[in-house]
Formats: sequence, C-alpha cells, structure tokens
Amino acid sequence: MRLIFLGAPGAGKGTYAAQLCQQMGIPTISTGDILRANVKQGTALGQEAKTYMDKGGLVPDELVTRMLADRLSAEDVKPGFILDGFPRTIAQAQSLDVLLKEKGLNLTAVVNIDVPREVIIRRLSGRRMCPGCGANYNVNTNLKPKQAGVCDKCGAALITRSDDNEATIMNRLQVYEQQTAPLIAYYQKTGLMKTIQAEGEIADIVARIRAAVS
Ligand code: AP5
Ligand code: MG
Repeated sequence: MRLIFLGAPGAGKGTYAAQLCQQMGIPTISTGDILRANVKQGTALGQEAKTYMDKGGLVPDELVTRMLADRLSAEDVKPGFILDGFPRTIAQAQSLDVLLKEKGLNLTAVVNIDVPREVIIRRLSGRRMCPGCGANYNVNTNLKPKQAGVCDKCGAALITRSDDNEATIMNRLQVYEQQTAPLIAYYQKTGLMKTIQAEGEIADIVARIRAAVS
C-alpha cells in the first residue's frame, strides 16, 4: 500500500497516518517530522529549513525532494508507506512521479483530507506536543491531556509547536491554498484521489480512510 495524504495544515494528516500505519504495518514518512528532527539536531539542512518553517513558508523543493528520495531508499518502505506532507507543490509531485517510476512503483491512492477552515484553526491553535515521546494532544478537542500541560504517557511538560502561533498558522494556510491545493486537480486526473470528510471521532475517520483505499 503506497498512499499520499494531502490536506491543509491541521487537517489531521499526522494523526490519521499514525493510526493507519500501525494497523497496516507500514511506515509514515512525514517530511515535516524529518525537517523538525533536523532542526532539533542542528544539522545544516535543519538550519536552512528553520528559516522557512518559522515563517510558515515551504522549504525549497530541491532540498525536500532530495531528503525524500533518501528516505524512500530505506529498507522499511519496501512493504509500502504513507507520505504525510509530501508532495506540497506541483514540482514535488512531478519529482515523485519520476522517483516512483525509476523504482517501478505505483501509488495505491491519494487521500485528500478535507476539513472546514474553522475546524483547522481550532485544531492548530489547540495542538500540544510531547517533546519526550512525541505524543500529540489538543486542548481544543477531546484529546486533552489528563493533567493540563503534562504528557499522559511519559510525564514530560507539553510544548506548542513553534509554527502553531496565529500569524504563522495564517501564513501556512495561505501557502497551502496557493501552492498545495493545486495538487488536488493534479491527482484527480490520475483517478487515484479519494476525498475524506475528516470531522468527528478519529477512529471513525481512520476507518473511513481505510475503507476508501482498500
Ligand atoms: P508539517 O509538519 O507537514 O505541517 P503541516 O502540513 O502544517 O501540517 P500539520 O502537521 O500542522 O497538521 P496535520 O495535518 O498533520 O494535523 P495533525 O494530525 O497534527 O510541515 C511543517 C513545515 O515543514 C511546513 O510549514 C514547511 O515549512 C515544512 N515542510 C514540510 N513538508 C514540506 C514539503 N514537502 N515541502 C516544503 N516544505 C515542507 O492534527 C492537528 C491537531 O488536531 C492535533 O492536535 C490532532 O490531535 C487534532 N485532531 C486531528 N483530528 C482530530 C479529530 N478528528 N478530533 C479531535 N482532534 C483532532
Ligand atoms: Mg503533521
């Protein structure tokens, strides 16, 4: 199973991918997570990427595409993968087409995760992350931690992602509309597109995605 998850910032790509991957035994490749790990480790890629990420802009296609090509050569992606946050521009989609063709691989489906803008803003402004174990919480939805500000799983103090402030959220949504939303038409032409309405219980949405791609 080789899937792309398309969707605006905060649509729930990471949340649904994490559950689906566990169910299907395949890895999620999140370009955002790989970039954040590079920022944390202070690599040259991380230092360059940070300047774009902090403003809510996109990291240049060339850097992200090279990073993805490396990740797609790893052994664990052989049974399949979910791409979360890649491609994000038409140029990235074209590079992915070339990469997959070189490897003799086809996509199974492109899942367009569709959520109204007001829900997205509520989700992003309430998101909290655990810097210890990576668990994801939300103070604006039913995913609140049991004790405010503390991870249920490992007890670490929760943090807000540095791009989840109001100004950067608005910029990320604008960048999505301008540069990423055109991918919906791009993939609609391939016949692989499945649009999923992603409001409600997470388990129900994951089941909806699973049914659409199987
Ligand atoms: P990235 O990390 O990909 O961020 P994003 O696209 O802005 O998306 P998010 O991770 O914010 O949202 P999500 O859809 O994963 O939602 P989540 O599941 O967390 O990218 C970050 C930056 O890296 C970019 O801005 C860019 O600079 C750079 N970058 C990355 N990839 C790139 C690329 N390919 N090219 C160039 N630059 C790139 O859900 C949101 C919240 O809502 C969570 O708290 C969640 O728990 C909650 N939630 C979700 N669904 C539900 C539900 N049904 N009920 C209750 N709560 C819910
Ligand atoms: Mg994410």
